[in-house]
Amino acid sequence: QSGYITLDPGFKNTGATKSAITFLDGEKGVLKYRGYKIEELAEKSTFLEVAYLLIYGELPTQAVLEKFRSDIKAQMLVHEDMKNFFAGFPSKSHPMGQLSCLVGALSAFYPESLNPNQTEEEEYQTIVNLIGKMPTIVSWIQKKSLGHPVVYPKKDLGYIDNFMNMIFGEVNCDKIFDDAVLDAMRVLLILHADHEQNCSTSTVRIVGSSNANLYASISAGINALWGPLHGGANQAVIEMLEDIKNDGGDVQKYLDKAKDKNDPFRLMGFGHRVYKNFDPRAKIIKKAADEVLEKLGVKDPVLDIAKGLEKAALEDQYFIDRKLYPNVDFYSGIIYRALGFNSEMFTVLFALGRLPGWIGQWKEMRDNKEPIGRPRQVYIGETDREYVDLKNR
Ligand code: SDX
Repeated sequence: QSGYITLDPGFKNTGATKSAITFLDGEKGVLKYRGYKIEELAEKSTFLEVAYLLIYGELPTQAVLEKFRSDIKAQMLVHEDMKNFFAGFPSKSHPMGQLSCLVGALSAFYPESLNPNQTEEEEYQTIVNLIGKMPTIVSWIQKKSLGHPVVYPKKDLGYIDNFMNMIFGEVNCDKIFDDAVLDAMRVLLILHADHEQNCSTSTVRIVGSSNANLYASISAGINALWGPLHGGANQAVIEMLEDIKNDGGDVQKYLDKAKDKNDPFRLMGFGHRVYKNFDPRAKIIKKAADEVLEKLGVKDPVLDIAKGLEKAALEDQYFIDRKLYPNVDFYSGIIYRALGFNSEMFTVLFALGRLPGWIGQWKEMRDNKEPIGRPRQVYIGETDREYVDLKNR
């Protein structure tokens, strides 16, 4: 009602929308996409099948999935003219800044996306275009950081194989991957695919609510995800674990820092706005980390530090009282590192996984003809003041 505003910083107690896409039970640590348990999808599904499920609401038939796959593969090449402004990025510029810029720029090459009243088919083409181009754009960013030439997508490779070959392969020298590596990427991308109204998804929905195009809305979501309190935490976790390792491995010292109210340091990868129990994704990723490192024969000292830190935190009254558990970002970086990615690429990998969720949420908001997002405020500023000329101030 007019004049009656409920203040709710961070929207901790605000339901922004009605959604049928992802269900979370924070107390029980339950996560489902369109009613399917994440544990089952991580075990049995593929990333593009989960992408279709999140966006269109149903598990696809064989024929529909094959068409979705081939429509996406047909879009994996990125317009060569995009290299012109991409070349302007300094080689050390953060991958997330490059990603948001390149994704936002797609509307310049696909102006049909600017039409807020696209038909279902036109919208489908915009969607498969973005899902097809994202892995290629990510691989451009990786190759730029190394000063290496880009590797092009191949017709005979699947979505994840193509992505990994564009990242780690070389011109005329394909990289063959161990099944454990490809399966780890499949699980990680599925686990990151959606998470109801988190910060970046809320950003995608509110930008899209002004009838901004899909590429602009996703670019905004990428920027929101970049923050270390959100998707940027997976990079911050590895940096924190490295600091602990270099500082003699004293996890208790860092737990105490995290509890000190005068110290802005927080235990990265711990805590969650909704989960007040184990993040179900963290459980699966922790198990996968052990399996992948074992399979690859990788001994990573920060994994042992992560386990020691987790054990100490779960027994610490401060963390118990606040129901702080490891979240999706706590172990994911350890797998990405074992697969050969550097830590600045971790949040880009989160964005690659989250893309179908962002698209599905954007589509749901548009299909439901939701109003433009425009919250109110409680005004606490000056009431009424007269202008004072400069000479009299
Ligand atoms: C993701 O929302 C999503 O779904 C996000 C995500 C997704 O899939 O989209 O799950 C992905 O972003 C996971 C979260 C990644 N971020 C981090 O790991 C950064 C560290 N975590 C925290 O900054 C924090 O836990 C948040 C941001 C995740 C949640 O913050 P809230 O819900 O706003 O909680 P809060 O800051 O109000 O904290 C409540 C209390 C405070 O203590 P008191 O003032 O009550 O004494 O818990 C403390 C906080 O100081 N606290 C922590 C802590 N997290 C919360 N203390 C130390 N270390 C931490 N990590």
